[in-house]
Amino acid sequence: MANPKFYLTTPIYYVNDVPHIGHAYCTIAADVLARFKRMEGYDVFFLTGTDEHGTKIEQSAKSHGKTPKEWVDIVVGRFREAWQTLNISYDHLIRTTDDYHKQGVQKLFETIRANNYIYEGDYEGWYCVPDETFWTETQIVDGKCPDCGRAVERLKEKSYFFKLSAFADKLLEHIRIHPGFIEPETRRNEVLSRIRQGLNDLSISRTTVKWGIPVPGDPERTIYVWIDALINYITASGYGTDEGRFKTLWPADLHLIGKEILWFHTVIWPAMLMAANLPLPRRVFGHGWWTVEGQKMSKSIGNVVDPVELVETYGVDAVRYFLMREGTFGKDADFSLSAMIARINNELANDLGNLLSRALAMIKKYDGGSIPRAGGRESADAEILGMAAALPERVKTQLDNLQFNSALEEIWTFIRRCNKYVEENAPWELAKKAESKTRLNAVLYNLAESLRIIAVLLAPFMPATAEKMLSQLGLDKAEEGTFESARKWGLLQEGSKIAPGEPLFPRVKV
Ligand code: ME8
Ligand code: MG
Repeated sequence: MANPKFYLTTPIYYVNDVPHIGHAYCTIAADVLARFKRMEGYDVFFLTGTDEHGTKIEQSAKSHGKTPKEWVDIVVGRFREAWQTLNISYDHLIRTTDDYHKQGVQKLFETIRANNYIYEGDYEGWYCVPDETFWTETQIVDGKCPDCGRAVERLKEKSYFFKLSAFADKLLEHIRIHPGFIEPETRRNEVLSRIRQGLNDLSISRTTVKWGIPVPGDPERTIYVWIDALINYITASGYGTDEGRFKTLWPADLHLIGKEILWFHTVIWPAMLMAANLPLPRRVFGHGWWTVEGQKMSKSIGNVVDPVELVETYGVDAVRYFLMREGTFGKDADFSLSAMIARINNELANDLGNLLSRALAMIKKYDGGSIPRAGGRESADAEILGMAAALPERVKTQLDNLQFNSALEEIWTFIRRCNKYVEENAPWELAKKAESKTRLNAVLYNLAESLRIIAVLLAPFMPATAEKMLSQLGLDKAEEGTFESARKWGLLQEGSKIAPGEPLFPRVKV
């Protein structure tokens, strides 16, 4: 039987500018889940991409003295490099300038029009270019975008409209039946109360924007960039070009997005799918935003954090670890170098790194570098073995709930317990007496085996570190890295050679 599939997505990022930690955050979270699901045996399709049309991109191309196409080709390269640097295992990166995407977008537009949910009219109102969002007179605040606070411009043009208003009841019903559709719950309640206030039809074309996908049969107009963008989730999985593949992959199991684009993903997007009689994604999760030392991250303040630079200084796994560990997914979090360095030194270098290097150094010293014989289990071992046995399920539960920081906290609780186990059993004392050799072996075996399980469970978060840990333990990741292997105690074989290496995380000087 084929493996179950798991289809997850990140937003497609605007290529007006290079990636920052906000983009990296969502993409790393998706990567952790993709890797974890693969370990569990799912056929994962992990999609990310770039949103390349619209006024914002047109303007940024112009300000860099490039054509839009030249500019997006340059910036998309920066995104690809960033994802490579951050060790992102995406299966596909969709660009909205790709031909198959354009084809699928036009097909969906035509389908919705054929189903009588698109009509022509006049649009008059406001538009925020940085957010590529329409606003009504009553929505804007002091002449500014209610969402981002930047200037809006006045629009008056002929337009195609999507009958969003027809879907309010169906959306409310869907959310009622599928409470897990929108998460976290606080966001779900916000969306619900907004839908209950009524839905306005949505302008879905632009007359003055040339950099976009033409409206089928009306090449003078382009499709509104957000409509074009949302459709990526189906065109990337075969809609309009490969129906067989589309049927296998769609609906997506999870859309990971930031909190400010929840409306597009939980109201407009599902309504479009309903209008085309297509199934809805199973789950949409809106994560929080990073501030930087308490301040909003913005180009005008000049405090935008570049994830690639962070990796150059601190290493990829330290950056992945910090972003997944510091905040709660779904809430805002604060970035600061001091907080990151504290976690590197305390949790990565001390707790984890020292546990590995101490355990391996003792195996080298007392057992000639071979995994010792597992031994009789004394009461002192019961807690370690019990925790090791429960840990995989605990981590899985947290990850299924997208609680990345709690998943890591579960692992660290065990790591700290293992460090305490070293102190309690003082192998250096046991080594002094020949009659305690069996006990010494058992203690060192338990530590090595615990480290193996820790490595497997850390692999989705810190793939390179997990690989180093397993290879220092004398194992080959490819064979040993499944979730199943984390649930089995006793896979390390007596007599197999360990290969101690460099410390996992050098301490950062402060
Ligand atoms: O919105 N902290 O693209 P975008 C955390 N193209 N996340 C942040 C953040 C911060 N400080 N700043 C931005 C778009 N983000 C559309 C999406 S999807 C069909 C189209 C996140 O380049 C933000 O929450 O503006 C969002 O998920 C993503 O970066 C937006 O990137
Ligand atoms: Mg944005």
